[in-house]
Amino acid sequence: MSQQLQQWHREVQASQSLRDLEELRIRLLGKSGEITSLLKTLGSLAPEERKEKGAEINHLKLVITDAIEHRKAQLEEAELADRLLKEKVDVTLSIRPESIGSIHPISQVMNEIIAYFSNFGFEIASGPEIDDEDHNFSALNMPDHHPARQSHDTFYLMPDESGIRKLLRTHTSTVQIRTMRQQQPPLRILAPGRVYRNDYDATHTPMFHQIEGLVIDKGINFGHLKGTVIDFCKHFFEKENLKFRFRPSFFPFTEPSAEMDIGCDRSGGGIKFGQGNDWLEIFGCGMVHPNVLKNCGIDPEEYQGFAFGFGVDRFAMLKYGIPDLRSMFESDGRWLSYYGFSPFGGK
Ligand code: DAH
Repeated sequence: MSQQLQQWHREVQASQSLRDLEELRIRLLGKSGEITSLLKTLGSLAPEERKEKGAEINHLKLVITDAIEHRKAQLEEAELADRLLKEKVDVTLSIRPESIGSIHPISQVMNEIIAYFSNFGFEIASGPEIDDEDHNFSALNMPDHHPARQSHDTFYLMPDESGIRKLLRTHTSTVQIRTMRQQQPPLRILAPGRVYRNDYDATHTPMFHQIEGLVIDKGINFGHLKGTVIDFCKHFFEKENLKFRFRPSFFPFTEPSAEMDIGCDRSGGGIKFGQGNDWLEIFGCGMVHPNVLKNCGIDPEEYQGFAFGFGVDRFAMLKYGIPDLRSMFESDGRWLSYYGFSPFGGK
């Protein structure tokens, strides 16, 4: 019997994993295990023998149970040590900062402008880039054959079955129409977005970005327009002493219309704001034409409004000294790391 005990004991010691050990435990001590079966033979023995054998087998059972428990503890410890080794984190690794990219100057400028106007209660509005002649022209007081349509170098899509041709919107003024047809005044919206024109050189690309502003309320006059855009430009160009000039101009959807210039100095080759005697045209604006209000179901006797529109890309070029518009859309990583902005604010 003691030989058998030694054999089992060796087997317990030799188990290399918790699973092997568990299999061995079942083989020996399970319901029909070898030691359990030995115990079952006791019933057929004479009482004297049963006493003696019983004690022996119980001793054996105890020793093996003990050995298994002991081995189990050893294996558990080894497995834990092994896991700790594998899942080790090297806390001495350097935490050298890795770049996560930068914000494109156009996104940066858009966000700056949106943040500014949001503070004055302007809501952000949007419309589709593929639009129709009504929103892009007719409703903006440019009926068929109006000469102003020609100045836009429009990209037209193929006409559909009914002969209607869609177009890539040439300006964000389309969003004025959508908003006024969907919402009741008073309105204050800012509509940033992509626009398209067939033009390509250092200051023009076929796709570029505009921001449109529209305010409709009772008693709105040109003074509100001036105050709004002047304050905005001072803030954007970070020059309290920025000079302004409003020149009479023409846009079919505003009456009167104006172009706003800001004072600058071009003498050094570059361009500096807030000094010098030169002027730079920066955006179009005016009082919303009564026909446009009527086209959107708004009574011009009751409500008036002003609107303005400008190129975001140009604003970004001016503020951050970017010389060529085309480089903005070349996805050159070196350009972006030079002109881009940190996602956490600042340059
Ligand atoms: N839509 C004009 C353009 O693309 C810009 C513009 C001028 C927008 C005057 C306006 C405005 O809202 O009042 O050239």
